[in-house]
Amino acid sequence: MNQTSLHRLLASSDLDKPEKADLKKLFDLRLSTNLPLIEDLFLSLYPESTFQNAFPSLLKLLPELFNKRPAYLQIQDLKRLKYNNWYQSEKMLGMQLYVDNFNKDLKGLKTKIPYFENLGVNLLHIMPVTTRPKAENDGGYAVNSYTEVDPRYGSKADLLNLTEKLRSKEMFLMMDFVVNHTSDEFPWAKKAAAGDKKYQDYYYTYEDRKIPDEFEISLPEVFPQTSPGNFTFNAQMQKWVMTVFNDYQWDLNYRNPMVFMEMLANLIELANLGTDIVRFDALAFLWKKMGTDSQNLPEAHNLIALFRMCLQVVAPGVVLLAEAIVSPEEIIKYFGEDAKRGNECEIAYNATLMALLWNSIATKKTHLLYKNLLNIPEKPLEGTWINYVRCHDDIGLGFEDRYIYEVGWDAFAHRKFLLDYYSQKLDWSPAMGQIFMYNPKNGDGRITGSCASLLGLEKGIKQNDKALIQMAIDKILMLHAIILSYGGIPMIYAGDEIGTLNDYSYLQNKNIKDDSRWANRPKHDWKTVSELEKISAPSSQIFHSLKQLVKIRKTTAVFADSNNIVLHNTENPHLFIYERTGKTKNGILVICNFDENIQLTAVSQISSLGYSSGKNLKDIILDRTMNLKSDFLELKPYQVLWLRKI
Ligand code: GLC
Repeated sequence: MNQTSLHRLLASSDLDKPEKADLKKLFDLRLSTNLPLIEDLFLSLYPESTFQNAFPSLLKLLPELFNKRPAYLQIQDLKRLKYNNWYQSEKMLGMQLYVDNFNKDLKGLKTKIPYFENLGVNLLHIMPVTTRPKAENDGGYAVNSYTEVDPRYGSKADLLNLTEKLRSKEMFLMMDFVVNHTSDEFPWAKKAAAGDKKYQDYYYTYEDRKIPDEFEISLPEVFPQTSPGNFTFNAQMQKWVMTVFNDYQWDLNYRNPMVFMEMLANLIELANLGTDIVRFDALAFLWKKMGTDSQNLPEAHNLIALFRMCLQVVAPGVVLLAEAIVSPEEIIKYFGEDAKRGNECEIAYNATLMALLWNSIATKKTHLLYKNLLNIPEKPLEGTWINYVRCHDDIGLGFEDRYIYEVGWDAFAHRKFLLDYYSQKLDWSPAMGQIFMYNPKNGDGRITGSCASLLGLEKGIKQNDKALIQMAIDKILMLHAIILSYGGIPMIYAGDEIGTLNDYSYLQNKNIKDDSRWANRPKHDWKTVSELEKISAPSSQIFHSLKQLVKIRKTTAVFADSNNIVLHNTENPHLFIYERTGKTKNGILVICNFDENIQLTAVSQISSLGYSSGKNLKDIILDRTMNLKSDFLELKPYQVLWLRKI
């Protein structure tokens, strides 16, 4: 049993009247329930023999942190416990956005709540709004503070106003916790640079290149073009500091228990602003070990579970999202394995699905998608995915080579094809994307560009090619129909709902011109939004069809995630078929055509899956009873069917 279920059980008599509950008593109960796990995890990382006073300090800290949690959030925590795993509901729909690009600042964002309601969005992921260095700051992922709002977005009062408003609307908020690194302007980094040994120990700092050079042998490079290597020399400190991402992002040294405890306090402070889901940024990198790639290490998992178990004691209504864009085998581990099963992160990005959808668009085939997904071990029942088509980052091709070979392709050549397809190296490709962080040493590269531009809308509009435009619209809708029905929280990237194209203005800004991820961080196009009701432009078609899909998702209970997904093999290499299983007649069979031609599937296959053919089958997207005239079911190019028995 995972700890959340235990807490639900133990607090059950208080869940109907949370306002009357003895909140302190429930905290004590949670603490004693999680204590054995917390102790094991803590001592595995910080053994008593080396760190005598560390564990008692943590025990002292936890009640202090609980006392700082506002009472209205303590009560909300209990309500969340009552409503089971709220994040798995079919009612969930997320949107990710940059506050300034969306509508200027936090106040501006608040005025757009009706826009979210109109589309059905009830979860906002706002990108970092905290203080950061003026020049380069990795879109706010170089933090000068974990909870101080950068003036460009408004004030902390504005943020609290927003979270209050969202709560009153029963909407949820996700914010980032940049847990792996701070900026070089963070107070700890400044003290370290000024020579303070205590704070030098908060980071990985070295007198000379001896240890850095040894580390470099096995450490990969995250940003090989703009920030090669993993260490930066700080002239003021006269030391090398570990900087796995950019040279101004200093990696925190979690071998020091003080770092863990101070970061735990920062995490709770972030939760206390009214955050419902905390996105644990770059968490795969949390533990460094010489001779390894320092990613996904067992100690990192223990550390994350430790954060989780402590957060649960203090704020049990808040859940964690793993931002681990790693191989399928590794992603699944962030839900927790063995004793940690269900006790690490509740949510993880389904990067495998995302990357392979792009693979299937380029190849028009689905066998690689099917094989990879089929081989991901089942996640714990309490966990769920964030399913997404695009986000603010690049698209990495992090799926396994062995399956590429199994389908008969050469892995190196295949990845090269994908990069070429998306980065305008092939005349016939409709995609207008760009290449990101190409590493000539190993041929690795990633892809950037907006959903619409990668799917051909930009090229279609440029060439005034109506067929290409229509095909792009159909592809955009198909990919979104998949994330809406796959099982998990669908997260729309702001702008994709109106088919926003690449934004090339970043090329004029010296601080970001080398980071092509900014092509996909456009300003929200409110002019287009104001015309959505009037014209039949691509943006209107996309928005209205998407809104309809969302409406259907929200009224289709079987789309709630209870691990009720079954992937089906198909003879036709262009189709992707899966089922959301339900009781008796309630299941939904999803069939998608990844080809630009009409594709057929045998009615006998659908019948063999229990979805009998003929008049008792309905596509709930078009709200149409299927009228099958032959032994084959026909799918138009890029069509999706959500089939239900009637
Ligand atoms: C995550 C963010 C990315 C950022 C990196 C470093 O991967 O999504 O945008 O560059 O972390 O913080």
